[in-house]
Amino acid sequence: MPATTTTFSHVYPQGTRVNERGRLEIGGCDAIELAREFGTPAYVVAEDDLRARARAFVETLAARHADYDVLFASKAFPCTAVYRVLAEEGLSCDVASGGELALALKAGLHPRRLYLHGNAKSETELRQALDTGVGHIVLDSFDDFERLERACAELDRRQEVLIRVTPDVAGDTHQAMSTGQADSKFGFTMDQAPTAIEEISEYIDAVVSAAHELLPRGPETRLLLEPGRALVANSTVTLYTVETVKRNVSTWVAVDGGMSDNLRPMLYGSVYEGLIADRPLAAANERCRLAGKHCESGDVIIRDVALADPTPGDIVVTPVTGAYGHALANNYNGVPRPPVIFCRDGSARVVVRRETLDDLAGRDL
Ligand SMILES: Cc1ncc(COP(=O)(O)O)c(C=O)c1O
Repeated sequence: MPATTTTFSHVYPQGTRVNERGRLEIGGCDAIELAREFGTPAYVVAEDDLRARARAFVETLAARHADYDVLFASKAFPCTAVYRVLAEEGLSCDVASGGELALALKAGLHPRRLYLHGNAKSETELRQALDTGVGHIVLDSFDDFERLERACAELDRRQEVLIRVTPDVAGDTHQAMSTGQADSKFGFTMDQAPTAIEEISEYIDAVVSAAHELLPRGPETRLLLEPGRALVANSTVTLYTVETVKRNVSTWVAVDGGMSDNLRPMLYGSVYEGLIADRPLAAANERCRLAGKHCESGDVIIRDVALADPTPGDIVVTPVTGAYGHALANNYNGVPRPPVIFCRDGSARVVVRRETLDDLAGRDL
């Protein structure tokens, strides 16, 4: 069978194709072989896709604006290999907790390239950020001002800050994902912003980068973009093994993962696609519900997906799982979290190993 690159929806990573054996290939690696070698469920990342998206952001901004930076919103895929690849492509990084800060540092990012976000930063997190010398702390509330001022005074530090302003624009999205409306737990309202900016100069003798953010756009204005999903989502697919196929009112195709590796359908009603890895071009002749293995009726990964004769043992692929998949993974029902596998030019390497049963009890005393 001739290999093809043209049949896939844009949601698959760049370079995805059907190989000579008629199987799906990600980053040059045969999905069935990956499942055999690394087990399922598994997050499979096409490294070149990740790099290409990072480069596209940088090149697009560089062509339009002199002073800019692209920040990887690392909440979307907080794993050291991803931080490292995106840093190699020249990106800075947004961290939203002490944990993400630690991961970014462990990945080797320069602290000056880090921006600490968070609507409920603790004193410990603020001190951790000051101690490591992060480039910017993003103030999100008047409480942040007080705490940071105190911490700066105690540690005898100065800190560059930004302030987060919610622009009073509601996103056309699920309400659980909308952050820009006035009634939000994030940031200052437009009305509060001038006071917040004044307080920065009163309270903290720091560079008021935030003021520049509010100035009319000009060549001297620094422009920061902070993409999460747009950078990492499409780089990754999840491989599952079909465990059971049950036909009642619907056809229930149940796999060996679910809401422990992809919480988004349950949290936000996110819609996914899927196909069977060893016959991606076969007629998808049966409408199915792709169900997870967890003890919740709501644990359905795809509510309506057409699959080609789904059978136990099949490897099902769901694309666009790079954002908030690994990030939101959990151990519900004692299911170990999946590995992250990077694929490039036909070589695969594990960058996060699968959790073991011992890991599950690892914190129990
Ligand atoms: C401050 C901030 N920046 C960036 C992001 C990334 O959002 P997305 O993954 O939708 O690009 C988020 C998402 O929660 C955020 O809160």
